[in-house]
Amino acid sequence: MDQHFTARFVAGGDPVEITDAVPLLDAALMGGVRFPTSCRNGTCRTCMCRLVQGKVAYRIEWPGLTPEEKADNYILPCVAYAQSDLVLDAPAARRIA
Ligand code: FES
Repeated sequence: MDQHFTARFVAGGDPVEITDAVPLLDAALMGGVRFPTSCRNGTCRTCMCRLVQGKVAYRIEWPGLTPEEKADNYILPCVAYAQSDLVLDAPAARRIA
């Protein structure tokens, strides 16, 4: 069953409702927040942002992040699925609704 959480985008104001049924990038869009995006498969890094609080999981073997970036809590929202309420440092994310 899908789980529902909230995501707060540091640059974007109010929290939006998200689900773990789709990648964070799509869940955010459903809540009215758009990330810059290109490949949508975890390789181009256009959507990269930093997880300030919370937990995400990946369903692909190796998202395009270095071990150092992972240790610094950088995530790729196009292939990351929320596992809890999230706070993100995503200055490029824009509220569209
Ligand atoms: S859109 Fe390419 S890594 Fe997320």
